[in-house]
Formats: sequence, structure tokens, C-alpha cells
Amino acid sequence: MKDITISDSIIYTGVDDKTIDLFESQYVVPNGISYNSYIILDDKTAIMDTVDKRGTSEWLANVKNTLGDRKPDYLVVSHLEPDHAGNIQTLAEMYPDMKIVGNAKTFAMIGQFFDMELSDDKKVTVGEGDTLELGSHTLQFFMAPMVHWPEVMVIYEQSEKVLFSADAFGKFGALDTDEDWTCEARRYYMNIVGKYGAPVQALLKKASTLDIQTICPLHGPILGEDLGYYIGKYQVWSSYEPEDEGIVIACASIHGNTMEACKKFAEILTEKGAKKVSIFDLARDDMAEAIEDAFRYDTLVLAAASYDGGAFPCMEDFLYHLKSIDIRIFDICYQHIRKLIPNSLQSF
Ligand code: FEO
Repeated sequence: MKDITISDSIIYTGVDDKTIDLFESQYVVPNGISYNSYIILDDKTAIMDTVDKRGTSEWLANVKNTLGDRKPDYLVVSHLEPDHAGNIQTLAEMYPDMKIVGNAKTFAMIGQFFDMELSDDKKVTVGEGDTLELGSHTLQFFMAPMVHWPEVMVIYEQSEKVLFSADAFGKFGALDTDEDWTCEARRYYMNIVGKYGAPVQALLKKASTLDIQTICPLHGPILGEDLGYYIGKYQVWSSYEPEDEGIVIACASIHGNTMEACKKFAEILTEKGAKKVSIFDLARDDMAEAIEDAFRYDTLVLAAASYDGGAFPCMEDFLYHLKSIDIRIFDICYQHIRKLIPNSLQSF
């Protein structure tokens, strides 16, 4: 198990996945992904989420190693998506006396994922602001619906001032990856949580009332210093305001001619003093990276060859993603681009 120190009584038990080809079957993760899980050891023991089934055996070994002879009293489920909840049933069957802590939506949804009987005495249903005493540690629950699914909640541990933030503040990349947080956290946020700016803003408002010293997300590193930086990034990203000045040229070229035009255009923009110009070949480059930069920079140029009476399909795919994550576009050029957009996307 990795030695990731949170405190003597809050232990990291998650796993890295460096063999997955596509996270959520759509995102390339060249440095893998971590499925984070934690155990709080006190008079009562609480496991904070499980992991994806891809990491079951390593995770169970971590759990047993951390618990020793003890048994878990609680499994706290902050998010039911299978990359975190994949082992709920396994754990419940291993520890039949363990109680599962969730909110009303958690228990309304859990039957969609598991074929398990969960009697009322095995469920602890929590609501906004409720607390659960473990001994010297106290968990407080805050609902965070649609950050990223309806049942999501975050948990604040009062004595050590730790926020278990579910998908929020997560990042692509296994924990043994030495890379900048911001780039892969932004790509993760824009593509996975980007649609839910208003719920993220609501969560940030709640978080602002708490004295947080550590953030424990479900993916990526534990954040213990300079929290204002990370929270500030989330404020910008969830507001749909551009983060930086720059021009993104998203190009859908069939035979290379549209790409040549885009490169020429980029040259002219640079000559005229544009501080940052980046071109994406939508047929080949990482779509998630293109989406990330479309959010990040303040100007977006779309250039597509026509195809079957519409835009070349990789442009339609790009537009689909922009629409689905609710990017805000306020540029007059949109009126011209609109002519290229299929009818199904005219509400974009
Ligand atoms: Fe990491 Fe929404 O699951």
C-alpha cells in the first residue's frame, strides 16, 4: 500500500490503475487514474468509499492491512458511480454487521447497481448537516447533488478539518505520477464535471463556511497546502468565465486543406500579437484536451470541412460535447458558424 499520510487515524487505502485504456470508456489517461478510499480509525471505524472493481484485490488487502483485527462499523458512500462504489456489495458480504451510510438518494439508487438486500438496520440515512460520531472524530454530511451524480455528498471531518470531497478536486493520473495538478485536474473537471457549474458553485458556498485544512478527493492527490489555489481554480471553472486569454482553433479537416487554412490563420493571429494560439486537429487530437482548452481560453474558432450536408463528423462530435457540458459562447461569429451546425444542435 502506498504510504500517503493524512494523519495517524485517517489512512489512505486507495489504489492506482495504470492499465486502464480509457477512463469512463472515453478519456485517455496516459498516467492512469487513482481510485481513492480512506479509513478513519477511532472508537468506531469508517471506510470512506470503495474503489473500482478493477482494483478490488489490492484495495481489500489495503483495507485488511489497515483494519488489522478490527471490523468496519461504517461504509460511507459519497458517490455511487462504479469507479468508487464497485465493491460495496463485496464489502457488505464480508462484514455483515457493517452499516452503510448514505443519503436518501443513495439508498434510492443503490438497487440499480447491486443485487443485495439491505435491511433498515444496516442503513444510516443522513441529510444536510447531519453528524455521525466515531469517537474523537465527527463526520458531518453536506449534499452535493450533480457534482457529479444526483446522490453525491461530501463529508467534513470536524476534528482534523478534512473534507472528503467526492469527485470534486479530482484529477486524472495515478498518485505516483509526478505532474502538475492543474492541467489534468482541469481536463478532468471540464469534461466530467463541467456541465454542473451551478451545483459546484453551491458546493463551494457550503465549503466556504468550513475551516478546511485537507481535501481528500476520490481521484488524484490529497491536497493539504495552498487550498486557496485549488478552490480558486474551481471558482473560475464553475463560473464559465474564461481562465486565460488565448485563441483555440478547432479544426475538422478531411484532406488537409482546412488544416492548412487554420495554420495560416494561426500564423496571422500570432503576427498580429495574439498571446496564445493553439490548434486542435479534431480528427486526431485528444477530444477531451480540445474541450478543456475551449473552456480555458476566451476565444474559440471553429473550422470544418462540409460533409454529407453538415459539418465533418469530428466537428459534430466536438459541438456535441460543447453543448452537453453547457459551454457559454458570446461571440458574433457564432451566427456564421451556426449555418454549419446540424439541426439537432441548433439550440446550442
Ligand atoms: Fe469518479 Fe463520478 O465518479
